[in-house]
Amino acid sequence: MEPTTFVLFGATGDLAKRKIYPALYNLFIDQKLPPTFALVGLGRRELTDESFQANVEQALRHFSRREATNSALNKDFLRSFRYSVLDIGRKEDYVKLLKRIEQREKELCISPNRLFYLSVGPEFFETIAAGIEESGLGSTSGWKRLVIEKPFGHDLHSARSLNRKLSKAFAEHEIFRIDHYLGKPMVQKLEILQQNPALHALWTNHYIANVQITANETVGVEERAGYYDHVGAIRDMFQNHMLQLLMMLTSHLPNNSNSEMVRFKKKMVMESLEPLQKKEVSASVIRGQYNAGTVQGKPVIGYRSESGVSSTSMNDTFIAARLKIDNFFWRGVPFYIRTGKRMKEKSTRIVIEFKEPLKMSSQANDDKKVPNLLVFEISPNEGITLQLNTRDPQHKGEFKPLQIDFHESRDDVPEAYENLIYDAWHGDPTFFAHWDEVELSWQWVEPILEAFEENLVPLHLYEAGTYGPAESDALLAEDGYHWWFDA
Ligand code: BG6
Repeated sequence: MEPTTFVLFGATGDLAKRKIYPALYNLFIDQKLPPTFALVGLGRRELTDESFQANVEQALRHFSRREATNSALNKDFLRSFRYSVLDIGRKEDYVKLLKRIEQREKELCISPNRLFYLSVGPEFFETIAAGIEESGLGSTSGWKRLVIEKPFGHDLHSARSLNRKLSKAFAEHEIFRIDHYLGKPMVQKLEILQQNPALHALWTNHYIANVQITANETVGVEERAGYYDHVGAIRDMFQNHMLQLLMMLTSHLPNNSNSEMVRFKKKMVMESLEPLQKKEVSASVIRGQYNAGTVQGKPVIGYRSESGVSSTSMNDTFIAARLKIDNFFWRGVPFYIRTGKRMKEKSTRIVIEFKEPLKMSSQANDDKKVPNLLVFEISPNEGITLQLNTRDPQHKGEFKPLQIDFHESRDDVPEAYENLIYDAWHGDPTFFAHWDEVELSWQWVEPILEAFEENLVPLHLYEAGTYGPAESDALLAEDGYHWWFDA
């Protein structure tokens, strides 16, 4: 790994404390950081380097998946951290920052490779990118990269405009758009697993009846009403995480695919996704909003009673949709995608339901027959289960599904941010969203956004602590299917 200066905008913020510092610390423990690196944290508050380091240490003690021990912390890790005050709108501050970074590069004798990480609200992206460009921070003889978090735009138009502005300061290959679902270890495994010839052969409409992608959460809007009430599940989860899961699953990667191929194939999936017409959205998309209920034994209030949410809000906290990919591999296979807040349980999973080649209708217990299923558990547990329909010779050949299970122990699993920061540092863009994917995703959801806006799609209230509105079940029932594993 090359010596680099990690320039962190938003160094005193929540994301930095909860995710970025713990990820860096765990990479350090695993010896995945270069022996010499510099981190310059930036924020509005006045802080000395020492108090910044103390804050980072405290964050690690709270949020690191591995215990933050004194010996590890005091080694080169915290010593690499420096802090500078920066007012995002003040040009002089960027010039001062450049001086500080050049000084650090000299002190540590490291090449001027600079990773700019924007852990700040999207409203600051453009100003920071311009500040980096105009001050000369970006004119380095080493490499430069920009890491940004979602949301990337609010709709197609704003996403395009943001991208145009960022492109003035950074080339596409220098921009690393984080979608943290792409950092989840099981999602990364999908890239390789679908290249495995055993699965590759099955990965078509020949064998697959339908695919179900679920990301259910038990939490509600939390303290984020100001943001969430303007975006809803469609922008917060669907346009990015859910469509990324779809792309990762269906891109039909040839053996030995490199990052260019992965991104090319993902783009092809998005191009083949059958577009929805605004007037037809309600036939394929269910929108819901949680009402009061009980989640995991605790009573919770309805969305419209949450602090910061309007009592007449029409915002979606649940989406279920039926999508179709019109290409050689997937024509005719429905993809059901759903995501919601205040659901019965936290679970992100993909279920692949195979077609039923075994004809066993002469058997007495035909009704017990279940299709073969392949299940990818993404979170909170990591695992893969293959459920095979078979007969039990000891019980007169009755149907008995057989399960082949693999589960990862949670302690061994690196957090999404560890994988992503490591890759950005290495310059590996495989698990970052390319602009083409982002643009095509916004393009695909645009008719849904408009249909919601114009109230062409009913808003179904669902009881908190359930699996969403009954209409979501009806969507699958229309095609003769049901959601798997809803208890
Ligand atoms: C974020 C959304 O991107 O993902 C949150 O903004 C959501 O609303 C979160 O809670 C879910 O992530 P995870 O990793 O817990 O499934």
